[in-house]
Amino acid sequence: MELKYAISKRRALRAFEPIEILDEMIKEVAETAVRAASCANKQPWRFVFVKGKEALSKLHETLVSRNYWAKDASMLIAVSSKKELDCVVGNREYYLFDTGMATAQLMLAIVEKGLVAHAMAGFNSELAKKALNIPEDMNLITLIAVGKHSEDFSKLGKKHQETEKIRSTRKPFEEYAYIDEFKG
Ligand SMILES: Cc1cc2nc3c(=O)[nH]c(=O)nc-3n(C[C@H](O)[C@H](O)[C@H](O)COP(=O)(O)O)c2cc1C
Repeated sequence: MELKYAISKRRALRAFEPIEILDEMIKEVAETAVRAASCANKQPWRFVFVKGKEALSKLHETLVSRNYWAKDASMLIAVSSKKELDCVVGNREYYLFDTGMATAQLMLAIVEKGLVAHAMAGFNSELAKKALNIPEDMNLITLIAVGKHSEDFSKLGKKHQETEKIRSTRKPFEEYAYIDEFKG
């Protein structure tokens, strides 16, 4: 799959049908993530690939109610890092930036496999860290729901059934990009 195609294909979809997640697939997408650039090659990202029934149900308890749909995902990926794992240059802490770059590559690799990768901020971080044995001092940045998209939207609430059908909009070029100087 062309990079451009994977980028256009990636959407925050919510209707899933169950699939088996193979360890081989996890290793392949992790390989794509780990090739990301990072400050001084620090590679500050840490991923927990959660696919076991028990581990998944523990994580489900940590989701906010509007993320009910993520309980049908076949895998959840916990993305964590901390400041100490990466460069700090003056007031610039690079761990979130570098982890974000690797996570973007991870998500596109998952999409390239024909699956959905949907990042979430709506979860209780303290409970999720406990459920996965993630050390207290790590910042659990996101959970990513991974699964095969389903054409059956009936398990989704009304609003989510509608958003499932429409691609999200984007700001026009002039609102986020400038030539030669910032025009705020
Ligand atoms: C950091 C982050 C947190 C997000 N949190 C949630 C969430 O908790 N629940 C949800 O349904 N979608 C969540 N999303 C998905 C966004 O709403 C979605 O990416 C955005 O609306 C753009 O749509 P698109 O991804 O289909 O292009 C999150 C996305 C990101 C990157």
